[in-house]
Amino acid sequence: MTNPLPDSVDYVLLDEASIQRRVMEMAAEISADYEGIHNEDFLLVGVLKGSFIFLADLARRLTVPHRVDFIALSSYADKAEATGAVRLIMDTRADVAGRHLLIVEDILDTGYTLRYLYRLFEAREPASLRTAVLLSKPDRHKVDVSLHYLGFSIPDVWVVGYGLDFADRFRTLPYIAALKPRVYEG
Ligand code: IMP
Ligand code: MG
Repeated sequence: MTNPLPDSVDYVLLDEASIQRRVMEMAAEISADYEGIHNEDFLLVGVLKGSFIFLADLARRLTVPHRVDFIALSSYADKAEATGAVRLIMDTRADVAGRHLLIVEDILDTGYTLRYLYRLFEAREPASLRTAVLLSKPDRHKVDVSLHYLGFSIPDVWVVGYGLDFADRFRTLPYIAALKPRVYEG
């Protein structure tokens, strides 16, 4: 039985099977790159809330030992999109110095969030710093940030599901869908 699409959803951009296949490929690539690493040394840092489902799936597919931690940042508030202002809501618990860090993020839009995270973590002197990002909207990038592992490049539409939200809704849809523009354009 298939559930009908929510009324606010325009179309499914990435179905469950495609997401799972790609996440599995990403996990294989990451596992190969970090082969031989010790458990205490490899730390996945999920960016809340959007990355929680991606992180859960990715981490469970890794064949190398790792630990999991989280950081929470503010999402867009009034002028944040124009100014690039990002606010730290909750820091990681683990000490990142000397560890191999992999930031796990749901989507690269303007790039301000990842740039903020790079600066924050680089100052703490990790052994290495990389990013695994599920989605990227190339048409929206405003700053240059390097991505090491990318799931999919997508067009400039607002997407929800698989952790991603609109006003904290639709996060637990199993697929990634484009919202109807009238919903997010108000
Ligand atoms: P950036 O700082 O502009 O790159 O924005 C990154 C953050 O904006 C992501 O972590 C998401 O929380 C949010 N975001 C950007 N585009 C979307 C989208 O299409 N759907 C849901 N959240 C999004
Ligand atoms: Mg996010």
